[in-house]
Amino acid sequence: MSEDADNAAFESSGRSPESNRRGFLADAIVVGGLAAGLGVPSSLIASEPAQGGRPVNPRLFTFVGGRSGGWSVVSAETIIGDPLPVVERVEVVAGAVSTPTAGEGWILRGVTSNGRYVTREEKVALEQKQAAVGRPTSDHAALIPIRKSAAWWALTQDERRELFEEKSRHIAIGLKYLPAIARRLHHCRDLNESEPFDFLTLFDYSQEYAAAFDDLVAALRETEEWKFVDREVDLRLVKVT
Ligand code: HEM
Repeated sequence: MSEDADNAAFESSGRSPESNRRGFLADAIVVGGLAAGLGVPSSLIASEPAQGGRPVNPRLFTFVGGRSGGWSVVSAETIIGDPLPVVERVEVVAGAVSTPTAGEGWILRGVTSNGRYVTREEKVALEQKQAAVGRPTSDHAALIPIRKSAAWWALTQDERRELFEEKSRHIAIGLKYLPAIARRLHHCRDLNESEPFDFLTLFDYSQEYAAAFDDLVAALRETEEWKFVDREVDLRLVKVT
């Protein structure tokens, strides 16, 4: 899904990235045990950005579910696998956050990366149509963490590509919804083997496209590719004004 070009920060609260991060650190709430249960490795929990307000890794994004944050959770549906603990708010942070110590919630993290599946033709088509997340008019969002089964990961790259596009038309379906839906894909699998999901998929759009987004997700869930999804939680969010 997302390539490096999509790395614009997902401004959730109108604060600057730095004040966003600092403000968020003060009110982030996650149970230590729960964080461990979700496989948040302490080695990955960097604290403040290194210098000058720049994140340690500009491709790293952290999603924190809790009682505060720039996005209000309007629904949380477990599609398959274990649910996530119910939270009221989600904050999207560019970079890492310190380990929160109190309250209930979760932390998920992932990195944007290069494309694995796109052909040149598809890449060009995507670049011509897509928008980056964070448009001021996009007051609706979806955060859909996804894990794929061991059977998927045992396939070779060409076998995965065939399932992903030739059989499932993931890109062909998705292209129809651009630029109304903006997307950013975060990979978790290479951070640590114990990450609870393989991907954190993030989308934003204005209210008028909320029904279209439902259609898109429904179409993808009917595909061969989705038979390999063994954990999926669909969180729908509305920007806190
Ligand atoms: C908005 C329209 C969409 C477009 C244009 C789109 C496009 C893409 C593209 C091009 C990739 C492959 C990137 C690569 O080459 O590695 C991808 C991957 C992915 N997309 Fe989408 N997508 C869309 C919607 C969705 C939705 C709604 C979901 C979730 C419900 C989703 C979940 C994923 C996942 C999990 C991957 C990673 C697959 C893997 O590496 O195994 N996408 N998407």
